[in-house]
Amino acid sequence: MAATKSFIYKICVVGDGGVGKTSMVLRYCENTFKENYIMTIGSNFSTKQVDLDEYPNFLIKLQLWDLAGQKHFSFVRPPFYRGSSATIYTFDLTRRSSFQNILNWKSEVEKVIGDGKPSILVGNKIDLADQGQREVGTGDGEALKEELNSIAYLETSAKENVYIEPIFKDLTRAILEKTKKI
Ligand code: GTP
Ligand code: MG
Repeated sequence: MAATKSFIYKICVVGDGGVGKTSMVLRYCENTFKENYIMTIGSNFSTKQVDLDEYPNFLIKLQLWDLAGQKHFSFVRPPFYRGSSATIYTFDLTRRSSFQNILNWKSEVEKVIGDGKPSILVGNKIDLADQGQREVGTGDGEALKEELNSIAYLETSAKENVYIEPIFKDLTRAILEKTKKI
């Protein structure tokens, strides 16, 4: 059997307040969901081992930094981006302003980590979008993904566990490729 290779990657989750960043991380790490909104103060930190079927001898740990999205935390966020390998840009499919703000998030993050790191674009709350509350079209998401040069655009639901795991697995594969580990 091939020797185990270990990797640890830091990933930052950003986007406007209330778009569902904490909920996505909680769904991925603990497979739970909370209906009531508890605004993140500063940051939340979680770790999770990712198993990629095609690389059974890789031991990959993600350090997930889920940052406070509300405007008044903008001064505390930049130091958290340092050393990050990748970014998850998140907006709420039922709130157009959160989509329009993604380019501001990109510039906030890239001021610290530069523009060469992999990212993924996530439109969350697809369950509500499917109930008639959609304010951002799939085509708009795809176009923004191109503009961001992100690896993918995913429409997710932390509530109903739709496409949550692929966010983290696809991004992990992209980091491994970028750093020439695969
Ligand atoms: P900040 O910490 O303020 O930056 O917000 P956040 O992006 O971490 O948002 P959070 O995960 O706290 O979710 C905000 C609200 O949206 C909560 O009431 C969640 O229950 C709800 N929510 C999150 N994801 C979904 C989803 O996929 N579908 C639905 N219907 N509600 C969601
Ligand atoms: Mg939060």
